[in-house]
Amino acid sequence: MTYPISVELTTNPKEKPSHHKQAFGTVFTDHMFMLDYDAGQGWHDPRIVPYQPIELDPAAKVFHYGQTVFEGLKAYLTEDQRILMFRPNKNIQRLNLSNQRLSIPTLDEELVMEALKQLVLVDREWIPSEPGTSLYIRPFVIATEPVLGVAPSLQYKFMIILSVVGSYYAEGINPVSIYVEPKYVRAVAGGVGNAKTAGNYAAGLKAQDEATLKGYSQVLWLDGVHRKYIEEVGSMNVFFKLGDKVVTPALNGSILDGVTRNSVIQLLQHWNIPVEERALSIDEIVEAHRSGLLTEAFGTGTAAVISPIGSLEWQDEQLVIGEGTTGELSKRVYDAITGIQLGTVEDPFGWAV
Ligand code: COI
Repeated sequence: MTYPISVELTTNPKEKPSHHKQAFGTVFTDHMFMLDYDAGQGWHDPRIVPYQPIELDPAAKVFHYGQTVFEGLKAYLTEDQRILMFRPNKNIQRLNLSNQRLSIPTLDEELVMEALKQLVLVDREWIPSEPGTSLYIRPFVIATEPVLGVAPSLQYKFMIILSVVGSYYAEGINPVSIYVEPKYVRAVAGGVGNAKTAGNYAAGLKAQDEATLKGYSQVLWLDGVHRKYIEEVGSMNVFFKLGDKVVTPALNGSILDGVTRNSVIQLLQHWNIPVEERALSIDEIVEAHRSGLLTEAFGTGTAAVISPIGSLEWQDEQLVIGEGTTGELSKRVYDAITGIQLGTVEDPFGWAV
């Protein structure tokens, strides 16, 4: 099926950045995709238009009740000038899971895929090619009905914007120091922790701020019930190498089903490295550190891909992981995923589109 997506090209193209050292998500391309929803009419009017501010009524529900979801994925330019997106179907499926959790009408997944492809093609000249750079794609839905009653909105906008990005962390793939968060929690099972929705990120800012003041890059989130089991690190999923196996917290309802997380699990299995998805307590990590079993830890996410953890601060104790440097496995996983993303290594999974 082909979708009639109308295209209005800009008459005023912006200057493209001459380097990619700018902060993550600060430079946007010339165009964006929009689709409207009205109850009765459904989703309608798919269009690509010049990137521009949008006008919303101050009563739009998104401003008051946070009825909104988003996604993040990347497009890359290969050496032979092909454009690759990394596992876009996974993001599109998750977008609809998030929509369902936030009582937002689901989107036609084929239309979203078509919109992604057409928008990236329209702005293809913006895709950077230097190592570590990419075009970050941000699809999102906002509730726009101007009504203050607490009920699902009857109007929405689905949009896609594109941002030229370098490394997410100024540190690049260098290890970050992490504060194990004892006071705040990110989400609880039954809540919205497994949906990609704004409130989860807003809820994390306070802990992030306090950790930054203490000199740490991110926090390690513990579960909200026992304050004991590891959930995520900052806005990423987390993996620990314990002896010859790798352990990551199981998807328990409060953890986001990360596309990079899923890719790392599949890669490890492909390499015959045992990987376990299960409950993992901070006590087990402290014990594994004491016994020398804990040799590596890393966060996984679309923005940073792999972010090695150099140290954990827990109950006034500093646990330096391995040598505090980027471990062998972290590097191997990073090289494999970025290689598939850039089309420089074989893609046995068919992840690149
Ligand atoms: C990721 O891609 O790792 C994230 O979730 C961070 C993003 C919200 C910027």
